[in-house]
Amino acid sequence: MLADKTILTLGAAGGIGQGIQRHLHRLGARAHASDRADLAPVRDCAASLLPLDLLKPESWVAALAALPPLDGLVLCSGKLDHAPLAESAPAAFDEVMRVNLLAPAMLIRHLLRSGKLRDGASVVLISSIASRGSPGNAAYGASKSGLNGLMRTLALELAPRRIRVNAVSPGLVAAGMYEEVRKTMTPAALEAYEKTYPIGIGQPADIAAPVAFLLSDGARWITGHDLVADGGATLGT
Ligand SMILES: NC(=O)c1ccc[n+]([C@@H]2O[C@H](COP(=O)([O-])OP(=O)(O)OC[C@H]3O[C@@H](n4cnc5c(N)ncnc54)[C@H](OP(=O)(O)O)[C@@H]3O)[C@@H](O)[C@H]2O)c1
Repeated sequence: MLADKTILTLGAAGGIGQGIQRHLHRLGARAHASDRADLAPVRDCAASLLPLDLLKPESWVAALAALPPLDGLVLCSGKLDHAPLAESAPAAFDEVMRVNLLAPAMLIRHLLRSGKLRDGASVVLISSIASRGSPGNAAYGASKSGLNGLMRTLALELAPRRIRVNAVSPGLVAAGMYEEVRKTMTPAALEAYEKTYPIGIGQPADIAAPVAFLLSDGARWITGHDLVADGGATLGT
């Protein structure tokens, strides 16, 4: 499905990111993996490993220069500050906005300006259903909402080059940030929360499959779309 495609995944060592990285590799992509976290867990399924901190843009240039031109880019890095706005520290709010919105925008800008995105490439941004409003996650919800706006704008800006830009918005997935959310909830509250998912909470594979579809030629007429993968959690809201 993705044979001969060169794809870079950021956040590839994270909970959902590892699922995406393994799936893209299985589908035949030359799948390059980047993260700030230890990349050893995806060494066996990566064409190359690029350690990269989104908060240190000065270090990107050298790291990304080694890459071949890309057919696909997946931005799966992310930061959660579990706090309502009134309790949100300005520095924490700022960091979430920089990791989840500013850095992805500037990284794509850098790839465009350095000729690293091929005509016809596909960009997939991992957003969240929190973009619709998520009490207790003020910065996170705002950053993901901004990411969706960026996605739609970029889809229009890059259409002349047939570069497609889409988002996948997961609901609760049993990986990575889910562990952080769990820590803040009582078992009873968690059980009640999970019951709001009509077909249960998700697994990384449930995000990897739609990401792979959007990267594939089968999605060549789909751009500017936010693909919600949430087991029906937002139905009726
Ligand atoms: N899990 C869910 O329920 C859920 C639901 C909706 C959306 N999402 C989205 O899915 C994506 C993956 O989330 P996840 O649950 O898999 O969480 P995760 O395991 O924490 O993955 C996020 C990755 O981003 C990396 N990262 C954070 N700050 C960075 C920085 N400054 N530079 C480079 N990398 C950085 C993390 O590295 P460190 O470990 O070093 O911080 C981590 O490897 C995120 O965009 C998240 O918003 C997750």
